[in-house]
Order: sequence, then structure tokens, then C-alpha cells
Amino acid sequence: MVTASEQGAHGERIVPMRLQKFLARAGVASRRGSEDLMTAGRVAVNGEIVTELGSKVDPRVDVVTVDGAAVELADGPVYLVLNKPAGYLTTMADPQGRPTVADIVPREPAGLFPVGRLDKDTTGVLLFMTDGDLAHRLLHPKYHVEKRYIATVEGAPSDGNLKRLARGIELDDGPTKPARIRRLAQSSLGTSVEIVISEGRKRQVKRMFLAIGHPVVVLHRASFGPVELGDLAEGLTRPLTGRELESLKAASVGGK
Ligand code: URA
Repeated sequence: MVTASEQGAHGERIVPMRLQKFLARAGVASRRGSEDLMTAGRVAVNGEIVTELGSKVDPRVDVVTVDGAAVELADGPVYLVLNKPAGYLTTMADPQGRPTVADIVPREPAGLFPVGRLDKDTTGVLLFMTDGDLAHRLLHPKYHVEKRYIATVEGAPSDGNLKRLARGIELDDGPTKPARIRRLAQSSLGTSVEIVISEGRKRQVKRMFLAIGHPVVVLHRASFGPVELGDLAEGLTRPLTGRELESLKAASVGGK
């Protein structure tokens, strides 16, 4: 039987726990990624390297380290959204010392990491969490979580070309899935277009518009699944609401 002392803040059982689950919950990596860390011999419990995937730990007494650095469970998982400004790389550390999102998100808890990536010059919704499992599911193509972008592109794409994008277009890593596209406005910079995609390939939106001959000049992510910025100022974070989190979790189960 699970006693109260064996339950986390959300009533979940916390002891004993599989080591890979502990690592994922601490935000080190997804459960799969944590297994890889274990089999690579990078994880130790009380000073002993543990490679066996069935191993369990008691987070109250066992000291878990990855590459020698101690890993601890936060009180509960943390979920944030950042309104990313242009000019920051989506990584928690850059060997060349360039500005990264780590410079603008809270330092605590330690296991906070970005869910996916926005290019350096892309602005808008970027999720951060310590929940490696959910992050992994949100990025998995089979769950089709919708991302909405506002792209300003050079020139004035024809309706025919926008329809091609909406149907799916051939890129060098394969055809894109159907997208929703809406022409918004014309300005001196070019044409602004709303595009909703359910994939998350590298530089996908830019590559899609390039494929129809209209390079993106400005790119902003307006939403990720149910999460929008609201009045969150550029460069600031806020915690996800309970409703946003439930909806994200629901969007990432039972995918095809
Ligand atoms: N697509 C892109 O091309 N860049 C981004 O930053 C996000 C989506």
C-alpha cells in the first residue's frame, strides 16, 4: 500500500521509482533519452554506475548523478511559456557564448529545457518544461500538435502557390502534411500570411515559403497547441495555466 509519505504533491507514487522515470521527471531527458544515458554508463546511484533499465531508486534517500552532477526532483514539474525575442538561440548553452534563451528564462528549476526549437530570428511562443515525457510526446510527429505562425514573406504569393503549400509541398526531407493558410495583409515588407502546421521539422516554415519562391523575412509563432501569448511581453515567461496544460496533455495522447 502507498502511504501518504510515498505520494508526491499530485498524489502520484514517488517511491520506489524506475531510474529512467526519475530522470525524465527531473527534466534530464525523455524516458527514452534517459534510458540511453543509463546504457551509456553516465548515470550513477549512490556512486555506482547503473546501466540496468529495471533499476529503481528511492528519491528520498538515493543520490542520483548524471556525468557526476547530482539530479533532484523538483517539487512538481514546471511548465512555462516564453515570448521569445529575436536574437536568441534556442539552446540552454552555447559554446561560442552567443545569447541563448537560457539568458532569459528562470534559472530554477535546473531541469528546465525548451520544447523544440525556434530559429534565432524567430519570435513568439516557446514552451519550457521539466517534464521530459510530455516534451517528447509534444514533439512526436504522430500527435500532430498544431503550431500557428505569422510569416511575412517577400513579394505577393499567388493564391495558387498558397494552395500548393496548404495541400503539402515537396521539401528535401519529404512532402509536408496539409497546412491551413490564410493571407492576412500586404505591407512595404511583403505579405503577411498565417500558416498552421502540425509538424515541426527544422526551418520548416521558411523552407515551405522558399519552395514557392517567397522567402520569409519575419517569422513569429503565435501559438503552440492551445498555448498563446496573450499579453505576455517579449522576453518574459509565465507558467502555463491548468487548462493549457490539460489540453496539451490531451493533445499528446492517442495520436496516430
Ligand atoms: N519554422 C521555421 O522555419 N523556423 C522556425 O523558427 C520555426 C518554424
